[in-house]
Amino acid sequence: MGNIVLLDDLTINQIAAGEVVERPVNVVKELVENSIDAGAKEIIVEIKNGGKTYIKVSDNGKGIRKDDMEIAFERHATSKIRSISDIEKISSMGFRGEALASIASISKTTMISKTEEEETGYKIVNIAGNIEEMEEVVVQRGTTILVEELFFNTPVRYKFLKQDSTEFRYIKEWMQKAALANPNISFRLLNSGKIVLKTSGNGKLEDVIYTIYGKQVKDNLIEVNYDANNIKITGVIGNTLIAKENRKDQIFFLNKRYIKNNIISNSADQAFKGGTGINKFGFFILNIEMSPDMYDINVHPTKLEVRFKNEDSIYKAVYYAIKSSLLKSEFLGNNENENEEKYVENEYNFLTNHFVSDNNLEEKSDEKETKEEIKVENHELIKRNTKRKIEYNYVGILFRTYIIIEIDNEVYFIDQHAAHERILYEEIKENYKNNIKNNTQMMLIPEVLNLSHKEIEFIKKYLQMFKNIGFDIEPFGDLSIKINGIPDLDYKTNSKHIFLDILDEMMTNERGQIRDIEERFIATVACKAAVKAHMDLTREEVDYLIQNLLNLNNPYTCPHGRPTTIKYTREDLEKLKK
Ligand SMILES: Nc1ncnc2c1ncn2[C@@H]1O[C@H](COP(=O)(O)OP(=O)(O)OP(=O)(O)O)[C@@H](O)[C@H]1O
Ligand SMILES: [Mg+2]
Repeated sequence: MGNIVLLDDLTINQIAAGEVVERPVNVVKELVENSIDAGAKEIIVEIKNGGKTYIKVSDNGKGIRKDDMEIAFERHATSKIRSISDIEKISSMGFRGEALASIASISKTTMISKTEEEETGYKIVNIAGNIEEMEEVVVQRGTTILVEELFFNTPVRYKFLKQDSTEFRYIKEWMQKAALANPNISFRLLNSGKIVLKTSGNGKLEDVIYTIYGKQVKDNLIEVNYDANNIKITGVIGNTLIAKENRKDQIFFLNKRYIKNNIISNSADQAFKGGTGINKFGFFILNIEMSPDMYDINVHPTKLEVRFKNEDSIYKAVYYAIKSSLLKSEFLGNNENENEEKYVENEYNFLTNHFVSDNNLEEKSDEKETKEEIKVENHELIKRNTKRKIEYNYVGILFRTYIIIEIDNEVYFIDQHAAHERILYEEIKENYKNNIKNNTQMMLIPEVLNLSHKEIEFIKKYLQMFKNIGFDIEPFGDLSIKINGIPDLDYKTNSKHIFLDILDEMMTNERGQIRDIEERFIATVACKAAVKAHMDLTREEVDYLIQNLLNLNNPYTCPHGRPTTIKYTREDLEKLKK
């Protein structure tokens, strides 16, 4: 006899289980997804010891027929597809027919189920693949799966589990995602008998968010409703006040399935840029709906990864969905939402036409050509068609920094620096994008600056960028340059120092791709030219700032993501007294 033999079923299932079930949370995921597929409106998950000894998932879904109960435990047994081509059509969570077989091969699994048609329910117990005799039981319609002693027969796997509290945390986090993806299903999670998550299933995403994240998050959300080119994106994003240092609060679902995907993450980062603080990540919970034939979910056994057939279109859709929603928040009490599509399109073009890696010079020259084309195309200033109209009562300036205005029952603090920075940023960027030539303010007496060798090298490298932004500079001897003109902006600062400040800032921060450097360049010029805190403003200057902010599509934050305005209602203030 040769050395090669066919493995027995139990071994095959246990091997498969290694891919599907690494830890208790994977069991919870598979069972809850089955309940969702069964049309349940109520799903209750009970665990003990972080799920290691006990996981029970009960639902009020359609149930499993008596005849199907045993076969459901077979590998490749599924009611959801009939052939591979069905994967492109179905929208159910499951399709492999692998989960129950895998779970049952490494635990003691009990299945109790009743369908609408059948008189009674049935119960079967499966211990590591050995099915015991079926019993009749009296239960309501629906299914309960109990998984005990996970990994009892695979001690090596058991050893890899973490502390109960850690395994519990994984389960809780996954359950929260399931609840967020399915606001129309009522979820309950009990840990050793204690309720740790409970949602109503009333269909309102905001209510689920409130349950999980609390009031502060709920109060800073913006609704997302995007639908174009066969991609629909709905859910919420957060404003800059609830952005975080990590990506934990960036959740997206693809047809309600939680997935991870770099294209989507990158696109979101770009869309949030300037709408959240530096090194912060915007809050979002989004569900992307698209036909299953536009992607492949069968990439990995955990179904956490996906391959999109058209990556550009998903990138663009996510960018548009987030960016245009960010621009829809109210501003100074005015929530007249003008159609900002054009502005978003312009921003998108600016972003995507600079997709070039620094170290690839050949690509760079290609880029130049397309850049020229785009500039001609977009030679148009994108502003709001109408100024947002508001009536306010000017109160004064606090700490020589915050302009205070009162509108009805609300008081607004406008950060004079952040506000001016945003106004200048938009102006410089428009000029820059559109390659406007007369954006230079010539100096009466040109200035000659002595610089270091490193500084001269830097200027030479980015000379075109300096020129595009409005600097008229030229080399003057070996280690000096002559400044003839600076960007034409309304300066409140001493314009002589601006060049050096910008140079200094850019040189300490010369990272990233060309488009990042350009973006930072523009933001730096805006920052250095803008009024600072502790500069006294006249009443005319205050009005100028407010009027110009009202004219912008994006007046909400400075280019570094700090809010331009902070609002307090009378109610907020009254609460402080309690
Ligand atoms: N809670 C449930 N309610 C109703 N039917 C269920 C439930 N759980 C499992 N089933 C039935 O058992 C079958 C096998 O479930 P299993 O999870 O193993 O496979 P699947 O969901 O079809 O595919 P996948 O392996 O991708 O999850 C399902 O196709 C379904 O018909
Ligand atoms: Mg399944």
